[in-house]
Amino acid sequence: MGDGTKTLRIGLAGLGTVGVSVIKSLVQNKNGPFFMDCQGVGVVAVSARNRARDRGVDLSPYRWYDDPAAMAAADDIDCVVELIGGAEGAAFDTVRTALAQGKHVVTANKALLATHGLELAETAEQRGVALAFEAAVAGGIPVIKTLREALVGNRVTKVAGILNGTCNFILTTMESYHFNGGERRARSAAAGDNSRPEGDNFAFTESLAEAQRLGYAEADPTSDIEGFDSAYKLAILSSLAFGTVIDFDGVHTEGISRVSLFDLKMADELGFRIKLLGVAELSDEGLEQRVQPTMVLKNGALGGVSGVTNALKITADMIGELTLVGPGAGGAATASAVLSDIADVAKGRVVRPFGIAGRSLKRAPRRKSSVHTGGFYIRVRVFDRPGVAAQVTRRMAEQGISLESILQKRDETAARIDPAGRSGAPVPVVLITYATTEDAVRTALERMQNDELLTEQPLLVRIERT
Ligand code: HSE
Repeated sequence: MGDGTKTLRIGLAGLGTVGVSVIKSLVQNKNGPFFMDCQGVGVVAVSARNRARDRGVDLSPYRWYDDPAAMAAADDIDCVVELIGGAEGAAFDTVRTALAQGKHVVTANKALLATHGLELAETAEQRGVALAFEAAVAGGIPVIKTLREALVGNRVTKVAGILNGTCNFILTTMESYHFNGGERRARSAAAGDNSRPEGDNFAFTESLAEAQRLGYAEADPTSDIEGFDSAYKLAILSSLAFGTVIDFDGVHTEGISRVSLFDLKMADELGFRIKLLGVAELSDEGLEQRVQPTMVLKNGALGGVSGVTNALKITADMIGELTLVGPGAGGAATASAVLSDIADVAKGRVVRPFGIAGRSLKRAPRRKSSVHTGGFYIRVRVFDRPGVAAQVTRRMAEQGISLESILQKRDETAARIDPAGRSGAPVPVVLITYATTEDAVRTALERMQNDELLTEQPLLVRIERT
């Protein structure tokens, strides 16, 4: 191959949806011009937990390993593609073994990189091999190369993204349950299931089940739903955006399990959508990284992003704002990113994993998220008694918080309305604040709790006018 393309013998560890898609694309389809033209790049060995499982792809041409680390150590492997997942165990052993032996690694493993990224990057640099991870964040959207290479001349100040397809799918499916309720209820009934109660929990569980059926949600959805998957991805993006050491423990992480259908309806009425947003900002006060349900403008760059789609909005000095939108999960989309890394390695393009030398990455101080200033959506549930609304607003006023709106709504999903129309039952009250600090809001809510005004834990959602 005269264009610098080398022979590349690949050992593929992990034969789930993505692994099988990589084999199909690399071996059977040979879609893009690079792979159509190149003969020397191919899988020679594979490894997975269960050899007997039918994966719908012929594995007989490849040598089988039960132990992926042994495969990584084999003499005839030049590049290990690690698609096992998880921060420790087999994935970590396999990647460490490969790098220590001077072999290239392509991985989709965000948990591994968020936890051990610096150590692994330094080993790769010392050995002069690739540690490539385009597939680790936002599936098929080329966010890693965009930050590390395309925007290298910029000073990036903020990244904000919808980084988990499962959560975005669940939230938008819940919205469609609300907006097209009749249709979805009819579907459940047609499927012979009349036993499920309607309401918030129903909308959430049904949407999660659909995400699992479609293969978007991981086997155990906890990491998706509780925000950890997004937090791993955000920690990696921060490092690339700001040249800082990955600080996964510094990501303030909240998931979507407390967002109700009621909140989605309220957001809609107010001109917003609720998204699980990962936001990282570097300022003079330090690095703030957070993953939490956030209200974004319905018509803004992120508000219209539906279903399993991911999006990343980058703010930087030269380009202003750039938003990348695309498929964030799924076998083929993620395999597309894996193939892009494989092609780089085959062309001899070995770059520093985080753009600059691992030892040059800065240790940024953490900015306390409670000092964040902005607007908030607050949903409390109070006993519907005379004077309660006045008590709630007094506690806010004491903290100098100005309210843009206050709404006491009938919660149609809660089925707690007294049929005789008497007051006293718990009702949701929604407060929208003008810019204030999170500290002030939390103090006001604590005071309300001490007053025994609240019947359940309040929900606090930041408003990003983005
Ligand atoms: N489970 C992830 C998501 C995809 O739903 O976005 C892999 O990171």
